[in-house]
Parts: sequence; structure tokens; C-alpha cells
Amino acid sequence: MWPNQRLINLFGIELPIIQAPMAGSAFSDMVVAVSEAGGLGSLACALLSVEQARRELEAIRRKTSRPINVNFFCHQQPRSEPARETNWRRRLEAYYVKLGLDHNAAVLSSNRSPFDDKMCDLVREFQPEVVSFHFGLPERNLLARVRRTGAKIISSATSVDEARWLEDQGCDAIVAQGYEAGGHRGMFLTQDISTQVGTMALVPQVVDAVKVAVIAAGGIADARGIAAAFALGAVGVQIGTAYLHCPEAQISSIYRQALRDSKSSETAITNVFTGRPARGIVNRLMREVGPMADVVPEFPLAAAAVAPFRAKSEMTGSADFTPLWSGQAARLNRELPAAELTRKLAEETLEKLRFIETMASPDVLAQAAALATVGRRVHR
Ligand SMILES: Cc1cc2nc3c(=O)[nH]c(=O)nc-3n(C[C@H](O)[C@H](O)[C@H](O)COP(=O)(O)O)c2cc1C
Repeated sequence: MWPNQRLINLFGIELPIIQAPMAGSAFSDMVVAVSEAGGLGSLACALLSVEQARRELEAIRRKTSRPINVNFFCHQQPRSEPARETNWRRRLEAYYVKLGLDHNAAVLSSNRSPFDDKMCDLVREFQPEVVSFHFGLPERNLLARVRRTGAKIISSATSVDEARWLEDQGCDAIVAQGYEAGGHRGMFLTQDISTQVGTMALVPQVVDAVKVAVIAAGGIADARGIAAAFALGAVGVQIGTAYLHCPEAQISSIYRQALRDSKSSETAITNVFTGRPARGIVNRLMREVGPMADVVPEFPLAAAAVAPFRAKSEMTGSADFTPLWSGQAARLNRELPAAELTRKLAEETLEKLRFIETMASPDVLAQAAALATVGRRVHR
């Protein structure tokens, strides 16, 4: 029995485990596998066109009637800053030259779009049970439209202030995203990466600050992490990187190999791939231009100038310029199908929680009571 049923009841799921939305890496196969296993599968739409998202949602609804989460970025559209973009291209010029590319050639703009009317229509059509956002929340009218579909609304907070803000806007649950997390930081009230908090410190402080359900995310990859999240007051977990190792993850072989080879010390927060801080495995572009670069254009514009030499380099099997998003718990990962991973994580967590409970034998409880009595005497 789970120590807390709140998330299970809120979303109508069996296991308090959310497969994190992962733009570009997890699609309908992953969502169906996790939801059918009793967790909450998530479809990230940030890199999908409306038509692509529709196809994925049709495939999901064909294969499962279990609850699902559909996820969107909700950043502000960037201002065009030609001087900044020119500087960025200049900073990257050497890579164009080395790979025999024309750095003046037109570069396709980046395709990460924020949540908008058309995506909102799709939400109304497919009625996912949960809709989640990253980088805050969309504007009031759009959010109200999502709410009217009956979906539970969640978003990521990387600080207590962000969690309070999300609760004030009516979120049903909050993902407390610790610094260990792979992919983009969901931060939206600050740009200051140096103030970001680890999962262990963030989760209990968010739990104390808000009344809504808190989901722990960041560096959680096995039963120990999930049990710890419950001990910190979370009512469920959102797990990303561990699911990248599943066969359902649609990632390139160079990305998969980098994940297999990576160690926890080899990830860093970088803005060189998109313009926003995100955690990934350290590679050549991060080492030589970042990991945090000042000249980088606003999110998501930075990605466009990287794309041509990234593509050329990937053709030769190199991950030098590829974003390799990963959290810090890299060594804990197992290569299992997503349904099996979900069920194993749940079973092993329940075992771990039972073990912790048996440790609280009458002897242990008597010792705790004795310590409390001594404490009261000392403080008198
Ligand atoms: C490859 C990858 C892509 C991600 N894309 C998204 C996304 O599209 N939307 C989102 O809300 N979070 C995204 N995240 C962040 C996750 O929601 C979550 O916070 C993170 O994976 C948790 O840390 P972990 O990777 O250590 O488990 C992504 C994470 C990864 C690893």
C-alpha cells in the first residue's frame, strides 16, 4: 500500500509514477506502455506540430483508455535581436568552417513553440486527464480553456516562490523539479541558475509552502529515490532520464550510447543548445562554448544556428554538438521496456517502504519515545 494515495486519486492512476514528458524523445509507444502499466504516461508536444501531436494522440487513444498527461512549453515568444543572433553565429563560425558549411547560409528557425490556441483545440478534442506545462503557465484565457476541458493542470516549480505562484494560479499539483533533473529547467520567476535547489532540499520546502499535491522530480531513478521522495512529503514522482533507456524511447543511437557511457559527474547545466538552461551530458559544444554562454540568443533561437553543424556531425556518428539531455542519476538506469520498468519501480519501492516500516519495530519506537522524553527534559 502506498503511504499516500493523493496523486493516485487525483489522476485516477494505479501507481504514483509519472513518466516525464520528454520533447523529442518519448512518443505514443512510451505513453501507452507506462499508462497501461498503471503509471501516468506523458506526451510532450513542444517539438511537435499540431498535426504530429494529433497523430500521436490518436495512436494513444486507440491503444489505451487509461489516464494520460499531455505537456506543453509555455515560454514567451522571443523578441528578434538580429545583433545577438549575428554574434552567436560568429561565435560558432569555426564549427561551420571546420565542417565545410557556409555560416552565412539561411538557418531554419527553431521549432519549439509555446502552447497556443491550436494546441488548446487539440486538448479540447482529446481531453487528456492531465495537462502539464513547463516554464510557468500559459496566459489566463488559454489556461481557463484548458481547465474547462476537465483536465487536471500541473506545472514545474524550481523554487518555493514558483510553487506558491503556481498554486495561486490554480494548479492541481506541482512538480518540484530539483537541480539534478535532466532536460530544461522549468524555472520562470528567475533567470539566475546559481540559485537553483536540489531535489532533497526543494521537495520538503515546497511541501511546507503549498496545499496542493507535490510531485518530486530530478535524479530519481530507483526505489530508493522514490521512497525518499515520499519521506520528503511528495505524493508521487516524475521520472525522465530512467525512461530514456527503454526501447520505447525514440532517441538516436549516439544519444543512447552516450547515456550508457555517462556517469553522474558528466552532466552539466548548459544554455548553448537552446538559449535556456538545461541539464545534459557534457560534450564538445558545452566544453568549448559553454556550458553557460553570455552571447546566446533568447530561447529557443539559439538552436537554429547549432542545427546545421550538429546535423553534419551526427552523420559521422559524433555527438559533439548534440544535446544529450540527462539527469544526474545516470548510473542507476536499467534497460527495460517501459511497462516493466514502471512496474519494477513500483514493486521495489513498496518493498523498500515495507523494509523501512519493519525497521520501525517496537524497540525502535520505544527508543524514539525515550529520546523525545530526554529532549523535553533538556529543553525545560
Ligand atoms: C530528454 C528530456 C526531455 C525533457 N523534455 C521535457 C518536456 O518537453 N517538458 C517537460 O515538462 N519536461 C521535460 N523534461 C524534464 C522532465 O520533466 C523532468 O523534470 C526530468 O526528467 C526529471 O529529472 P530526471 O531526468 O533526473 O528524472 C525533459 C527531460 C529530459 C531528460
